[in-house]
This record gives sequence, C-alpha cells and structure tokens, in this order.
Amino acid sequence: MTNTNNLFSSWEVLEEEIRRCVRCPLHRSRKNAVPGEGNKKSVVMFIGEAPGATEDEMGRPFVGAAGKLLTMIMESVGISREGVYITNVVKCRPPGNREPKDDEIEACSIFLKSQIALLKPKLIVTLGNIAGKTVFSMGKREWVGVMKMRGKRYELTIQGIQIHVIPTLHPAAALYNPQLRSMLESDMKLVKSFIDEITSSMKSSTSDKTKPRTLLDYIK
Ligand code: URA
Repeated sequence: MTNTNNLFSSWEVLEEEIRRCVRCPLHRSRKNAVPGEGNKKSVVMFIGEAPGATEDEMGRPFVGAAGKLLTMIMESVGISREGVYITNVVKCRPPGNREPKDDEIEACSIFLKSQIALLKPKLIVTLGNIAGKTVFSMGKREWVGVMKMRGKRYELTIQGIQIHVIPTLHPAAALYNPQLRSMLESDMKLVKSFIDEITSSMKSSTSDKTKPRTLLDYIK
C-alpha cells in the first residue's frame, strides 16, 4: 500500500514491511528489525543511526546505554520521550555495530521517507553524523560534518514538507566524554526552546480559530 511517491501510506503496513524487509544484507544477521516508536501525532522526530545490540534484541530504538543517556538528557531539559517519535536511518543492526554502508542506507531510505511523510514533523533532531548526513541529503542540502553543523537550526524541505532540523551529537559519543556530553545537553536545550515555540504558536493558532468573533474583529 504505497502512495504516488511510492512511499508507504499507513503506519501499520510500513511497520510490517520493515519487520519482514529483505532489501539489504542486514536482514540476515538481525534478531529484530526496529521500526521506531513514540507518539505518531507528535510534531517532533528524533533520528539516530542504526539499532545496536540491545535494540536488536528488543526491537525498540534507543533502549541500550546510549538510549538511556539520551532519555536522561531529554527529560532533564523537559522533553518527554513518550511525547516524540524516535527512529533510525537504518532499521536493522549492522554487525559488530559498524556504521551502515551507503547501499544499506539507500535500501532503507524508503522507510525513513515514509515515516517523515506520515508524521509531517515540524522539527527533526538528528543524532550523530550519519543521521545528519542522511537527512540533509534528503533535503538536498550540503552537510559538512556533525561538529560543524550541530547546535543550530536549519530549514529543509523533505517530501515537499518544510521542516526545521537541529543536528546534534550521537549520545554514544557522549557516553564517556564529558565535553561532548555538555554539547549534547546544550543542543537539547535549544531543541526544548524550539519545541516551546512550536507549541505556543500551535496553541495561539487554534485559539484564534475558536475565539468567538465580535464586531470589533471586523473593524480595521
Ligand atoms: N544507536 C542508534 O543510533 N540507534 C539506536 O536505536 C541505538 C543506538
């Protein structure tokens, strides 16, 4: 069940396709594919690189050591993990936790594109170099490495949707490096303040529509 862009047009079909995917060799060594999880009505999407050993075991994203750090930092700045949608560039674990190869990323890209088209996020947070590079390439924008790009907000158009993107570090890089950890924390504060901006502009646009009109609204 795909739409005119050949993307999956329902979450159920998409997740089922991911679980039984054989588009690249990573399916041979996986225990479980990891489609993603979280709030499918959220306007915020977090994208990592690929499942690790714990994620492969459990079929859920970011549940190992890096995931625990990510969740802790998110919650410490006031972002609820359950409130956002979290996924990865590739949905199956690369053996030995190596980086996914370009052809694996390409074979899997239909799934991430479909997730973006279904969710229509206002903000994407990319975690690490591979996620940043992949999302910027989908938005046809130059990527010059995570250390140069992180901690700023960019506007991209992906699948015809205008999306703000904040690249940050991969939490695994910050696990044993206090300097990188404080960069991740500071980027996450930027993410939180932009989420607050989006939330308040969404609230004011709904309250504008529901506000009863008075004669004064029609007088310039
Ligand atoms: N690293 C990732 O990039 N994704 C996960 O889900 C877990 C670890």
